[in-house]
Amino acid sequence: MPTLERDGVTLFYQDEGQGQPVLLLHGFPLSSDSFWPQLDSPPAGVRLIVPDHRGFGRSGPGEGPAEMGKLASDALSILEALKIPQAVVGGVSMGGYVALALTRLDPSKVKALVLIDTQATADDEAGKARREETARAVESRGVEVLVESMMPKLLAPDAPAALKARVEALIRANSAKGMAAALRGMALRQDCKDILARFAGPTLVVVGDKDAITPPEKAKELASLVEGARLVQLPGAGHLSNLEAPAAFNRALEDFLFAIPWRK
Ligand code: MLT
Repeated sequence: MPTLERDGVTLFYQDEGQGQPVLLLHGFPLSSDSFWPQLDSPPAGVRLIVPDHRGFGRSGPGEGPAEMGKLASDALSILEALKIPQAVVGGVSMGGYVALALTRLDPSKVKALVLIDTQATADDEAGKARREETARAVESRGVEVLVESMMPKLLAPDAPAALKARVEALIRANSAKGMAAALRGMALRQDCKDILARFAGPTLVVVGDKDAITPPEKAKELASLVEGARLVQLPGAGHLSNLEAPAAFNRALEDFLFAIPWRK
């Protein structure tokens, strides 16, 4: 299992397939395993690099809030260790926040963006207060708090029981410390609309048409911020569209990657 040490934290990542690099960043409160339909059969000619953010999955927790910039720096360190100068950078929900923070830190590393069931705006004051309340509840009662509060929103209401069970297991595999740090980190994130206004690379925005957390209107808003962005809406999928409509998602990703002019 590949790992990297950074600031005393062990960062785990998956590295599957061979070819053009695509960094995929997972959402909250999951792990890199939430990309299983993509990791199981990476698109032809593509190398998927999929980290567990610090405090998630098999990566160790850090100290203090897991700010999006910190998670983005972790991902950049992995690219650097693998000697990858530039990658397509994609993320689901919180992973999208990290992808945008990475683009702010070093746009030269970003060949193209794939923004999946996510948004570019920051939390308002009420949202920040809810994050802190949830972080405290997780610290006192454990990650089961997140299973109860998030499962009804993560998947479409008619998602298969086996998929629900697998997503619940990913949540339960995380630590309370890591989840509280990420909640506090998300509350601190900046609005990223300025980054998208400046970003000149190809951009794909994907959304499940039953996404209850970042619904299609948000995806349309996001796509409108980038010149020439492609918007794909996946029928029947909720917030985890790469898991809920894997065949349609993989097709949309492959079509997008195929159209990228990889060589300058
Ligand atoms: C996620 O799926 O990563 C979360 O719903 C993001 C958030 O809570 O803003």
